[in-house]
Amino acid sequence: MQDTQIQKLIEEASAQLAYAYAPYSNFKVGAALLTDDGEIYTGCNIENAAYTPTNCAERTAFFKAVSKGKRSFRAICVVGGLRGTLSASISPCGVCRQVMMEFCDPETFQVILAAGKESYQIYRLKDLMPLGFGPENLT
Ligand code: THU
Repeated sequence: MQDTQIQKLIEEASAQLAYAYAPYSNFKVGAALLTDDGEIYTGCNIENAAYTPTNCAERTAFFKAVSKGKRSFRAICVVGGLRGTLSASISPCGVCRQVMMEFCDPETFQVILAAGKESYQIYRLKDLMPLGFGPENLT
């Protein structure tokens, strides 16, 4: 992936920190999801007083995109930290990894964990979800 594209994803994910609704954990997360056709869908975490309905930033981005008819994705960038101060890197939770498995090719889908514009690591979904279960298993 081109560096300008990575920078754009980091920017868009970071802008989401302003919208993160995290009154219980104070841990704010932003995500930017790149579709195969080059569009970006953003998301933030949305917490809930009953705790379990909380939605992570990554899933917010995926559900926004899928609800607009998108089904093919290239990469997602995730940023976040306590009170919106960027941590070293935020790694997606298991539930979000499973949602990625539903819509992404684990061999090619890239997960960009960013702590800032100059500081990021890129993983393939396959590496974050070894031996994962996905739609392929049901065919
Ligand atoms: N969270 C995310 O949005 N994405 C992650 O990758 C890790 C965790 C959220 C969920 C919850 O609102 C807060 O961070 C603390 O767990």
